[in-house]
Amino acid sequence: MTNDAVHPVTLCLKAWVDLAEDDHRDRGVLGEAVYGPADEGLSNVQWAHVVPEEQWAVLARVDGILVSYLAVMSRTVFADGELADVAGIRSVKTHPDYRRRGFATAAMKLAATFIAGELAPDFSLLWASTMAVPMYQALGWAVFDGEVVCEQHGTTVRCADLLAESSFMISFPSEPRRIASLDLRGLPW
Ligand SMILES: CC(C)(COP(=O)(O)OP(=O)(O)OC[C@H]1O[C@@H](n2cnc3c(N)ncnc32)[C@H](O)[C@@H]1OP(=O)(O)O)[C@@H](O)C(=O)NCCC(=O)NCCS
Repeated sequence: MTNDAVHPVTLCLKAWVDLAEDDHRDRGVLGEAVYGPADEGLSNVQWAHVVPEEQWAVLARVDGILVSYLAVMSRTVFADGELADVAGIRSVKTHPDYRRRGFATAAMKLAATFIAGELAPDFSLLWASTMAVPMYQALGWAVFDGEVVCEQHGTTVRCADLLAESSFMISFPSEPRRIASLDLRGLPW
């Protein structure tokens, strides 16, 4: 564990196409530290592929070590049957040795600034692990209590049937809007 005062965090947001080889390698190392070699528990879900032109990454490094990471993507979903532009947050993670020091929060705040300034979506959406819900709530996100469906292996399924211990979370740029159902129109993220 490093000391924050001596080793400050460096935060940056990069377009996916600008990620260096080292960034991709470090993402892999961090993913393994968080989930183990096979991403156990998440590998049974078919996740959305990266569309490089529509994805960005926030990287938080301490002494060059990638300690926290997330990705932002652009998607179009159905909200109560109507098309909506959405900013999706995915793959939020902090290395176990660096948790509860505000790194994921700082990464989320940088992502939020980017989303508001560059993507200006109708709302933002993420699929949260239960452990992360309090952090997102502290950042102004709300648990989405309606039904969410997505595609898996070519058919439409309820997301709630895919992953236990998880909640969809939603964040609006201004006034929250009542939405009863979401169709992700493809694979989840
Ligand atoms: C969830 C996760 C990303 C949080 O990363 P982090 O860098 O430790 O988060 P932060 O330090 O910014 O947390 C800020 C606040 O969120 C809340 N929080 C974070 N982790 C929490 C936990 N495990 N339990 C309860 N509250 C938590 C706390 O209020 C915390 O503030 P505090 O430490 O002052 O009490 C990290 O625990 C992780 O990688 N978990 C495994 C992967 C995962 O579940 N990712 C989320 C996918 S949606």
